[in-house]
Amino acid sequence: MNSETWASVDRYFQNAFLPTDEILQKVLERCRQAGLPDINVSPCQGQLLAILTKICNVKRILEVGTLGGYSTIWFARALPSDGMILSIELMDEYAKLARENLTLAQVDRKAMVICGDARSVMQQLIDDAVKPFDLIFIDADKPSNPAYLALAAKLARSGTIVISDNVVREGAVTDENTEDPKVIGVRQFCEDLKTLGWESTAIQTVGVKGYDGFSISIVP
Ligand code: DHB
Ligand code: MG
Repeated sequence: MNSETWASVDRYFQNAFLPTDEILQKVLERCRQAGLPDINVSPCQGQLLAILTKICNVKRILEVGTLGGYSTIWFARALPSDGMILSIELMDEYAKLARENLTLAQVDRKAMVICGDARSVMQQLIDDAVKPFDLIFIDADKPSNPAYLALAAKLARSGTIVISDNVVREGAVTDENTEDPKVIGVRQFCEDLKTLGWESTAIQTVGVKGYDGFSISIVP
């Protein structure tokens, strides 16, 4: 078995379960045209995030790392009409494109992009004592994962779901001698989850996005 098999199986399930979605295709095309890195979640992963949102009756989502807004749209569509997603993006031009994409997908009433450093934005939300989020999705620069987790803990309540993308990194997560700052960030993030004692799991994924995985935790 190889990555081609994984990708074709992923496309099989995509074709079977996910209706052709011209808006999402257009969003991805606009991201490519604008030269954004092709690191959006896959369609089947987007659907997983949407299903989790629905299963958990999530109304308030915080996303760390918007990129072009692809996962933001999956989340926003899964939210009830009185739900909201706040997504934080460091890069001005990505945030601008993401806002256009949210408008294109007609979810701009539910989804808002804040442009800025996620540490500062999250700290501001804490200082403003905003209502806790029901789901927090961490999918930004991996070296900052431990910092984002510590801030997420202060924006959560008992029962909040915390999901983090890219915790496997083609298996590099097990390399305790790694010098890759992204892997170091992910490993520390996992250590911190253990220290926090949150019920957590990690699921390895293969498919059109290669070999990676999600962590999923529930705040006690
Ligand atoms: C990287 C980041 C991501 O969010 C992703 O899904 C894949 C790769 C990265 O920074 O390498
Ligand atoms: Mg990611």
